[in-house]
Amino acid sequence: MGEAPKKKIGIGMIGTGNISDLHSVGYRNNDKAKIVAVADINASVAEQKRAVFGADRSYSDYSQLLKDETVDAVDICVPNFLHSTIAIAAAEAGKHVLVEKPMAITVKECEEMISAAKRNRVKLIVGHNQIFYPPHQETKRLIEAEIGRPILLLTRLHNGFRQNKGWRADPKAVGGGFFLEACVHRLYLSRYLMGEPSKIFSRMTKIFPDTVAEDIVQVIVDFENGVQGSLIANEGGPFPLWDDRTEVIGSDGLIIVNGFEEQAIAGSPLMFYKNGKWTHYVKRGHPATVGDSPLGNLEIEADFPKTYANLTRHFVDCVYEDKKPDVTGEDGKRAIEMVQACYESAKLERPVSI
Ligand SMILES: NC(=O)c1ccc[n+]([C@@H]2O[C@H](COP(=O)([O-])OP(=O)(O)OC[C@H]3O[C@@H](n4cnc5c(N)ncnc54)[C@H](O)[C@@H]3O)[C@@H](O)[C@H]2O)c1
Repeated sequence: MGEAPKKKIGIGMIGTGNISDLHSVGYRNNDKAKIVAVADINASVAEQKRAVFGADRSYSDYSQLLKDETVDAVDICVPNFLHSTIAIAAAEAGKHVLVEKPMAITVKECEEMISAAKRNRVKLIVGHNQIFYPPHQETKRLIEAEIGRPILLLTRLHNGFRQNKGWRADPKAVGGGFFLEACVHRLYLSRYLMGEPSKIFSRMTKIFPDTVAEDIVQVIVDFENGVQGSLIANEGGPFPLWDDRTEVIGSDGLIIVNGFEEQAIAGSPLMFYKNGKWTHYVKRGHPATVGDSPLGNLEIEADFPKTYANLTRHFVDCVYEDKKPDVTGEDGKRAIEMVQACYESAKLERPVSI
């Protein structure tokens, strides 16, 4: 006789705005989980999402959801400044926690979240979804196995969306500006690929009248492995461009990951140069051509929305199988330390150690 199936993990979603839709995909049709409750300060949004997600109950006060005994784990998708308060309350209520990026808006908050999770023996995982993007995972493999000695990491964000509406227009709710909100992805991804940073030098300027805070940022990162990183970001480009390309050059090879912008990745989400030859990875399900020539000989899953479902499925697996998450509270905190170092360096106009 086989083992009796374990009970499904009861998921409570807190904050049911835009990103909760993409998170929900990893819980729905998942044998190991079910969304049992949702909470949003906007009661009608909560009720509408309850119906869409097939949850049993909706709350307008998240503390009621935390008292709900059918909830084993929460997924926190609220504005940044609320992440730590809600994550700590959830851990104290004995719920496992997935919190969206940025983990919190200060390093101290991150530390308090980590302590609360440890004290209450619950999992804490941070929504670093870009680590669950197969071209980024393949890049890490290529760095480790194929490109010889890594030399330079270049990453960028050309962001055509002005973050000047709703809570994103309030620097206090964001915890900074566009750099914290959008470029934390660039920083945690850089660390995922290259390991620990040791020094950061950054410059931030604001040139557009319709942006809220910094809108052009340049960062130089020294990594402990000797690699030099460069990040260039802006929120001034044409709407709706979202080009967050990454390049890694090593002594034996070059890797280029295209941004998530659909038309760019339809061509080739990932390219790799070695031994005088380019290999193009083609987006699975979208055979692409350049002129009359078919592109590439390798397929890769490169569907950006799926990164959120990959993340939430991983959260469920970690809780269900009592596994260590691929993105821990410590990783979330380190990303915030990098963000803070960038702001500090720009203010001091000199490099800072990290
Ligand atoms: N990983 C990513 O790529 C990614 C992408 C988008 C957003 N995010 C992050 O997800 C979070 C949410 O972003 P969004 O775009 O979904 O924002 P949103 O404004 O669409 O949704 C936020 C929701 O939280 C609700 N809310 C606000 N205060 C609340 C409270 N006290 N209790 C319960 N609900 C409350 C709001 O009513 C709203 O429905 C942010 O931290 C953002 O940085 C991450």
